[in-house]
Amino acid sequence: MALQTISPLLRYFFLFFFLFLVSDAHHSLADTQPVCESKPPPKDLPVHPRDVDLMQFALNLEHTETEWFLFGALGYGLDNVEPELAMGGPPPVGTRKARLDNVTRRIIEEFGYQEVGHLRAIKKTVGGFPRPLINLSKHNFEQIFDEAFGYSLSPPFDPYIDSLNYLLASYVIPYVGLVAYVGTNPNIEGYVTKRLLAGLLAVEAGQDAVIRALLYERAKETVPPYDITVAEFTDRISDLRNRLAMCGVRDEGLIVPLELGAEQRTTSNILSADRNSLGYGRTPEEVLRIVYGTGNEHVPGGFLPAGGNGVIARKLLGDG
Ligand SMILES: [Fe+2]
Repeated sequence: MALQTISPLLRYFFLFFFLFLVSDAHHSLADTQPVCESKPPPKDLPVHPRDVDLMQFALNLEHTETEWFLFGALGYGLDNVEPELAMGGPPPVGTRKARLDNVTRRIIEEFGYQEVGHLRAIKKTVGGFPRPLINLSKHNFEQIFDEAFGYSLSPPFDPYIDSLNYLLASYVIPYVGLVAYVGTNPNIEGYVTKRLLAGLLAVEAGQDAVIRALLYERAKETVPPYDITVAEFTDRISDLRNRLAMCGVRDEGLIVPLELGAEQRTTSNILSADRNSLGYGRTPEEVLRIVYGTGNEHVPGGFLPAGGNGVIARKLLGDG
């Protein structure tokens, strides 16, 4: 039927019908667009001013982890990878490349690069401070392990000598970052800061799980030349951290009594967690007591011989 033979009324009807179809098709297309970001909460701030010091505090641990993993795998650290993130802070002391098998080296290298990303993400979101002085010397680890056992290991523990010792020394570090993030979480208010914290916590927990799983495979082996099993090493280190933090059991080794296992039904303890298998949390004060190795957040030492940087740590040192 030719268009000119249709009455004007019908012509308008066809025109409206056509426009309706086009607009409906457009809406259907829009409706099928995938949603990739959740909408921000209507009244919340992206970064609340109170988030800043709390998230910056984490940089003390993130810097320590960065240098530990990068040096262990590659023999160099942040100053060779992304020097501006150090913000002029002093280079770490006592670091060196560890004697690692190929698989362990690849894992640790990846962890090292992940830490660089963590530093960048924190500093971009809430700002930051210069890298603190970090002590990753063999002597520092010797002291930690001697303290953990209550006597001097003979020969003194060397974290860099092989993969097993390096993994045992690694058991000491990311777990503290993990519990610090769990502890910080309830005090974070901004939705962008919450997203940052969740992303950091996820990877930190993953690193800890990998380290613990690798150690669990060898849990019953003795660590040469000592007559001490891998499991006992982890027990002693966890005990030491609980002692230093002074807030009860928030840290558990790889093999535990049944009452500390998941649902009180297992003695394997590849992940350290509470009665409901939720990760333990620690306050900045507890974290500092551990990383200073002094059991006192006002007395620096251990991994951070000149103390942590940022408002929280400096205030506790009387500088704030
Ligand atoms: Fe990290």
